[in-house]
Amino acid sequence: MRRIIPVRLFSGKHSILTYRTVYSAAQESNIHQENEALISKMPPFDYTPPPYTGPSAAEILKKRQQYLNPAIFHFYKNPLNLVDGKMQYLFDDKGRRYLDAFGGIATVSVGHCHPDVVEAIVNQTRRLQHSTILYLNQAIADFGEALACKLPGDLKVVFFTNSGTEANELAILMAKMYTSCSDIISIRNGYHGNAAGTMAATAQSSYKFNVAQSGVHHALNPDQYRGVFGSDGLKYAKDVEEIITFGTSGQVAGFVAEAIQGVGGIKELAPGYLSAVYDSVKRAGGLCIADEVQSGFGRTGSHFWGFEGHGVVPDIVTMAKGIGNGIPLGAVVTTPEIAKVLTSRNYFNTFGGNPVCTAGGLAVLKVIEKEKLQQNALSIGTYLKGLLSDLKEKYEIIGDVRGRGLMLGVELVTDRQSKTPAKIETALIMDQMKDLGVIIGKGGFFGNVFRITPPLCFTKEDADFLVDVMDYTMSKM
Ligand SMILES: Cc1ncc(COP(=O)(O)O)c(C=O)c1O
Repeated sequence: MRRIIPVRLFSGKHSILTYRTVYSAAQESNIHQENEALISKMPPFDYTPPPYTGPSAAEILKKRQQYLNPAIFHFYKNPLNLVDGKMQYLFDDKGRRYLDAFGGIATVSVGHCHPDVVEAIVNQTRRLQHSTILYLNQAIADFGEALACKLPGDLKVVFFTNSGTEANELAILMAKMYTSCSDIISIRNGYHGNAAGTMAATAQSSYKFNVAQSGVHHALNPDQYRGVFGSDGLKYAKDVEEIITFGTSGQVAGFVAEAIQGVGGIKELAPGYLSAVYDSVKRAGGLCIADEVQSGFGRTGSHFWGFEGHGVVPDIVTMAKGIGNGIPLGAVVTTPEIAKVLTSRNYFNTFGGNPVCTAGGLAVLKVIEKEKLQQNALSIGTYLKGLLSDLKEKYEIIGDVRGRGLMLGVELVTDRQSKTPAKIETALIMDQMKDLGVIIGKGGFFGNVFRITPPLCFTKEDADFLVDVMDYTMSKM
């Protein structure tokens, strides 16, 4: 016997009234068997982590709550205690394996604990861990050269940082110094970091504290799913032109944008937008900054950098996350002429470009090339997007499937017409997928978009498993 009962579901401050199916004991047992059968379909993987001997998840959570800032939050009703990682898989404290389709927020680019990267880091750590750029060391120079070779045109001068926020802060500073202007333009729904300048450039209220943030104009988001002009990039680009004309002196310092908004819910800028905006910004004397923190290092598959998909060449490129496969590393790459502006004062970063991180970064770059991971992102990403699009035909709750390569988004809505965000359902499905062995991320301003950004070594079998688990979970909603 199956019964349908009303239940109120809570997620943070929000709640909805929905219905839950209550099953008989025999049906429950059937579902358990189905779950086990599905979990057993996870692609085989020849690695067993060492036994875990540390404290329990509950003990760690209690300590976190007591000693760490309450601002830190976690995914899932029962948060995962992850203790090991190998390539595209993660292991919890019980040794249970999970398929990682989030990659530590698009950060684990070549695979968890990739042996080449671990070896480079360990070898460098054994010889010299820290010295600062006040002394010479081969690691920073070699990585600087290798990175510059991956960028087009005159983008040949690198400054290393420890994070994406630092990289974007520095890029914005350089743009202001170079142009002697202070107006920056960014796109609504973008995320660029959480220090003074980058919080100002970030354009989502949930990431903006109520403190003075000045000098940034937020342009219409060329959002092909929810935006007022659909996929007409040129119409959105006109907004930037108007901001320059009506909101500034006519001269600007620069424009900063992600090629695919990551935190904002995997939103690809409408075609034609970026090149038109770059033209307007250049005419106003500004510099164009490409924030490649999520979309760089081959993730989009078709290109090594996200901006290349739009046929533009920026003046400054910022990067982090995938550059280091999980080690704290970021970089700003620009032209020799623009780079020179930093010499007017001392600009120093204690850890930026440290030997351990730069040795690791070089190893990451080599693995991307050696294992043809950009090509893998293209073929597996295209295959996975196809499967997800098929799923959209099956479930009304899927409003949109988008993205490129292994940077994919699945937006859930309670109604396709009104596009009402299915926030609670998103959290629920994500939780249940975790119980079935698949870790995915979520984002978007309304928290209703699955973010699929796995390590680039993801396989076709992994893609099949992910979609089977999503399919099964949605079928039980
Ligand atoms: C596009 C983008 N830029 C910048 C940042 C900030 O990077 P970090 O968290 O390393 O400071 C992020 C972080 O999510 C990001 O997604």
